[in-house]
Parts: sequence; structure tokens; C-alpha cells
Amino acid sequence: MNTTELRFASNRVRDIERYFLDTLEGLYPEGEVRMFVRMLFEAFLGWSHAELLSRRDETINQSDLLRFHWAAEDLKRFRPIQHIVGSCEFCGCRIEVDETTLIPRPETEEMVTRIIDHFSNKAPRRIVDLCTGSGCIAIALAKKWPEAEVWGVDVSEPALQKAQKNAAGNHVKVQFLQADILKEAAWREKLPYPVDLIVSNPPYVMEQEKRVMQRNVLDWEPAEALFVPDNDALVFYHAIADTAAACLSKEGNVVVEINEQLGDETLTVFRDLRFTGNIEKDFRGNARMAWIKR
Ligand SMILES: C[S@@+](CC[C@H](N)C(=O)[O-])C[C@H]1O[C@@H](n2cnc3c(N)ncnc32)[C@H](O)[C@@H]1O
Repeated sequence: MNTTELRFASNRVRDIERYFLDTLEGLYPEGEVRMFVRMLFEAFLGWSHAELLSRRDETINQSDLLRFHWAAEDLKRFRPIQHIVGSCEFCGCRIEVDETTLIPRPETEEMVTRIIDHFSNKAPRRIVDLCTGSGCIAIALAKKWPEAEVWGVDVSEPALQKAQKNAAGNHVKVQFLQADILKEAAWREKLPYPVDLIVSNPPYVMEQEKRVMQRNVLDWEPAEALFVPDNDALVFYHAIADTAAACLSKEGNVVVEINEQLGDETLTVFRDLRFTGNIEKDFRGNARMAWIKR
């Protein structure tokens, strides 16, 4: 493919950015496209934002140009930028993601930040992250508290492989366990006892919510990481509450991300097992996490 076929006006950095702005117009807000360009230059060429601004009249070679071409094609099909560059940042950790793992969300990062603040005086010694996916929550907590024993549980073998790689890449020790947490108790016996903190961001989006969701999520992220049946939307919270009833220490805490429409119902699941709890809002003002105690 030559430059003309690639439809860039030239190999110059400023023309590459212009191409992205023109070709993705109407698909994404302009500010987001500029952010994509920044992330691509950093991922493909190792350029900082400052370099991108100061090297606008330089040219890049043809094979790098081809990578930008395919990135633009992918963005046209709403492939998430995190999949294109292969990773994202989460609480200061670099987390690799692909089609087998959910891309960590800012709400989840906020939950982890609040957990870290909450336990600033006394770090939990044993932590279990149920539905760990890319391992982002477990890894961020293990990085903050290197002395803690941290476990991550997920049903998905490919997600756990990514999580292992992410733990190694961030130089933390997390023990990963493959288990279907909706199945009866045997898997729980493999967890340490007692656990001081159970944390989870389980699937909680109802099937009926699909119609208002974006294509980058629906077409590219694993459905089994997101969706629950409309008629059993709290199925994972029942499993988490049962796990807490079996494994949580007397002073222990459960912190879970929740569906904003189901805050009270989620608390009821835990109250039915004699836990107490409250809901906290996220930075968008949506009821997003439940804090549970015995
Ligand atoms: C919403 S994602 C959360 C991923 C990650 N913790 C995060 O916050 O980005 C939910 C995760 O639950 C896992 N999962 C789905 N069904 C499961 C099951 N029955 N048992 C264990 N994990 C399950 C999925 O593989 C997925 O990784």
C-alpha cells in the first residue's frame, strides 16, 4: 500500500492527525479523537504528548503509517482504543486488555481508590477479588498492600491468563483461582480463611439495558463479563453474599460495584444474610458501590 492508497495526505505527523479528525468526524467527539491520536503515538512510537506537539512537521516511515491506517479502520468499527493499544491505566498499574477481558472502568477505579483511602490506617491482610477479569482490582490492591495475601477468582481461563500476565507485569503476587462462583461451595474451600476484604465488580447489566449501550461495548467486550438475566439480575450478589457468610472475618468488609437501578435490592440480598450495609454514589452521582459489614 502506498501513501495515496492509505489516504493520508502525507507521512507528516500533522497530516496523520488531520486524517483521524476527518475520517472519524461524526463518530466520536473531536476531543476524543485527539486523545486517540495521542494514545496511538505513545503506543506505536513511544512519543509523549509533548513530543507529539513539538514534532508535528516530522514524517514517520511507511510501516508505522500502516499501523495508523489500521488503527483508524478499527476505530471506524468502534474497536475500543484500549484493545488497539493493548492496555490501559488503572490506579497507577498498566493493565493489558483484549477481547477476553472487560476494559476496567473509571467507576471501578474510583471504588478501588476509596477502598485504599478507607483502609489507610489498617491494611486488610487477606483480600479476595471475585470476578477478577483482567485482575485490575486485585493487582491494584496487591500493589498498595504488598504484605497482603490477595486472591483473584474468575470463570474465564483466557481472562485469568491475562490477569496472571498483568500481575507479573506489575510485579505483584496475586493467587488466581478458576471457578464458577455461581456453582455450589467447593471452590470456596480453596480460599484462605478468614478473609478481611471481599471486593467484586461482577456482571450486573440487565439484558434489557443492551438497547441503550454503545457499539464499542456490545461488539467488542465479552458479554459474559457484563450481562445478567433480567429476571435474575442479582444472581452474582447472592453468590458474593454466600461467600461472605462463609469466609468473611468478624470485622471484615465486602465492597461491591452495583447496578445503579438496584441499590436497595442489592442491600437486601446481604441483609437477608444478616449483614449491614450502605450505598455510595460514584463521581457521576450514580449509586455505584455497596459497603457491607457483618
Ligand atoms: C464486570 S467484569 C469485571 C472484571 C474486572 N474485575 C473489572 O472490574 O474490570 C466481570 C467478570 O466476571 C467474570 N464472570 C462471569 N461469570 C462468572 C462466574 N460464573 N464465576 C466467576 N466469574 C465470572 C467474567 O469472566 C468477568 O471477568
